[in-house]
Amino acid sequence: MLTRANSKLADIIAEQEAIFVKRQPKSAALADRAKGVLAGGVTSSWQITQPQPVWLSHGSGGKVYDADGNEYVDLHGGYGAGLAGHAHPAIVRAVQAQVERGTHFAQPTENAIVVAGELARRWGLPRWRFANSGTEATMDAVHLMRSYTGRDLIIKVEGGYHGHHDSVQVSVMPDEAEAGPKEHPASVPSSAGIPAAITDLTLIAQFNDLASVARLLDEHPGQVAGMIVEPIMMNAGIIPPVPGYLGRLKELLHDHGALLTFDEVKTGLTVGPGGVTRQSGVIPDLVCLAKSLGGGVAVAAIGGTLPLMDYVASGSYEMVGTFNGNPLAMAAARAMLTEVVTDRAYRRIEGLRQRAAAGISTVLKDFQMNGFVVTSGAKGCVVFSAADVRDYRGFLAVDDSLSHAHWLFQHNGGVFLPPWGKIEQWLISVQHEEPDIDRLVANFRTFAAAIAS
Ligand SMILES: Cc1ncc(COP(=O)(O)O)c(C=O)c1O
Repeated sequence: MLTRANSKLADIIAEQEAIFVKRQPKSAALADRAKGVLAGGVTSSWQITQPQPVWLSHGSGGKVYDADGNEYVDLHGGYGAGLAGHAHPAIVRAVQAQVERGTHFAQPTENAIVVAGELARRWGLPRWRFANSGTEATMDAVHLMRSYTGRDLIIKVEGGYHGHHDSVQVSVMPDEAEAGPKEHPASVPSSAGIPAAITDLTLIAQFNDLASVARLLDEHPGQVAGMIVEPIMMNAGIIPPVPGYLGRLKELLHDHGALLTFDEVKTGLTVGPGGVTRQSGVIPDLVCLAKSLGGGVAVAAIGGTLPLMDYVASGSYEMVGTFNGNPLAMAAARAMLTEVVTDRAYRRIEGLRQRAAAGISTVLKDFQMNGFVVTSGAKGCVVFSAADVRDYRGFLAVDDSLSHAHWLFQHNGGVFLPPWGKIEQWLISVQHEEPDIDRLVANFRTFAAAIAS
């Protein structure tokens, strides 16, 4: 049964959902039509939002426009891919020029050398390969760690998302009942269709907890190939690493002959010019990038140390794909790295980051709301909790209904945040401006006032 406070929140959500639906009759009609030909009426299950999917018409700069013509400040950023904003002139130029010269050869083009060189400079890892999605990149990283070490087990963090391949679709969002004790978490398949034989090869540790990794390494001596981890967790709001965690994690794994992969698919260029790797000074054995790297074009990259990438070069592990290093993706990634994510762009983003964090923090204080703002470069979110969140168990305790209500208020107020409540973050693009952030903060104030009233 709902408490009085919860029933008030439910009423607020119902009211906002009604406004949402009223503003978007064309989206509703498209969603209806789509159900006849698209499973669930969408092109990816993550596009099923409540109360209904939002169908977009186009994007320009820092804005997107829905099928009904409503304008939004786009802080959804295509789930973290939209760092360049929409139709950035440098990306448009590069892609247009490449389209006219051919979009696919399955043979390397010179841009791949420029992109790999720039990634090597930024991430401090000497050799690179390319793929098409974050899932492909982390799949190759896991395969490579296993192949190189000759070991089958991997460690991943509870609540970490690394794409939709079998080895990492484990304990992504388990509920408390199935997750097992915090000190001894279970390996829970995150989707139907993942054989137990594979799930059992993925061991689960807690983020920010070296002891949980040490325990797994001790329990399985000589059997762990490596660990894959988001160096800042970004599929559970934003959970930063505690000081020293990443460096000591690398030492611990190496002491046991195991490797470390940083999944920087989400963090990557969004947190800074060389991702968390450069910020922390901890260079892992492998790094996976995707999302923002292509300026809106599908591309992924895997960087590695010389021993690992020489192993790939020798053919001992076949890292392959028809569209790997596709010329269109390479042209876009080159433009992204050399023309879009410049030092000047990062300085602008830093100003906007501070503006958003300060503005929302002030509102939280004004209304004495439980919550805090966490940011990292272009990324940020509000965590509706009085307690600090250091790992997935802490994240589980955070109230999700407030996040959903916040999302609705932002949406109805013309700011498109990523859906999925407390899981996702905003992404500021290089094309956003101060009024965009001011709209975010103003909507947050309207939301807070409604909750407090
Ligand atoms: C950290 C992380 N790794 C990997 C992936 C998978 O990327 P993709 O959806 O491009 O396959 C995601 C997607 O959200 C992600 O957040």
